[in-house]
Amino acid sequence: MKIAVLGTGSVGQFIASKLVKLGHDVMMGSRTENNPKAQAWLSTQGANASIGNFNNAASYAEVFFLCVKGEHTITALQTVDPVNLTGKVLIDVTNPIAPGSTEIFHLLPELTNQNSLSEELQKNFKDLKVVKSLNTVWGGLMAYPGQLNNGDHSVFMSSNWDDAKVIVNNLLIQFGWREENIIDLGDITTVRGTESYIHLWVKMRR
Ligand SMILES: NC(=O)c1ccc[n+]([C@@H]2O[C@H](COP(=O)([O-])OP(=O)(O)OC[C@H]3O[C@@H](n4cnc5c(N)ncnc54)[C@H](OP(=O)(O)O)[C@@H]3O)[C@@H](O)[C@H]2O)c1
Repeated sequence: MKIAVLGTGSVGQFIASKLVKLGHDVMMGSRTENNPKAQAWLSTQGANASIGNFNNAASYAEVFFLCVKGEHTITALQTVDPVNLTGKVLIDVTNPIAPGSTEIFHLLPELTNQNSLSEELQKNFKDLKVVKSLNTVWGGLMAYPGQLNNGDHSVFMSSNWDDAKVIVNNLLIQFGWREENIIDLGDITTVRGTESYIHLWVKMRR
């Protein structure tokens, strides 16, 4: 499958590398076509990997992972021609962490409680099939769930789009998540819970 990964940080790299390993054709997208982190990643990959800007990556793939800083998700997608978003599946792994918060995370207040980052994405990009998943674990575990408890732990999924959930479920199983541990929470408003969960899991990790 042709899959794009928007984001060059550790999460984007874990996910993009795992997808390449699984045999998918993968384009890593960023703000510029010659992002140094994307170029460094590309140099470690085989022929089915490529890089481009956000618009190149979105146009390349039917399915893409969103792995940029939470505060910049909407502006990143605004650089994409809407035609390249229509009907596509966006797997949103981001969290709405406020800029400058480090040890104790603060979430962006406008994206919490009665709203969430994924809901805001779905409102802004109505033809995009937003599915929230994987944001409740460390980036390495997203792509390699077997590193904890032999892979026997839970991951969540939220979306208004049932057909997109089937695609995401299949990719999660390819990553190594067990079918019985993939919990479909329901529609996109259920993301309010999983985005807030960061307060708990970052403490449990230590
Ligand atoms: N790290 C984890 O274990 C973890 C776990 C769960 C969820 N998440 C979420 O996953 C996402 C990625 O996390 P991360 O740790 O890999 O890295 P990050 O530092 O949160 O984000 C790095 C990415 O954001 C991009 N970015 C920065 N400023 C931007 C802007 N103004 N416009 C567009 N893109 C911009 C960077 O692009 P450049 O290359 O151009 O700088 C880079 O691709 C975040 O939303 C995070 O909350 C992370």
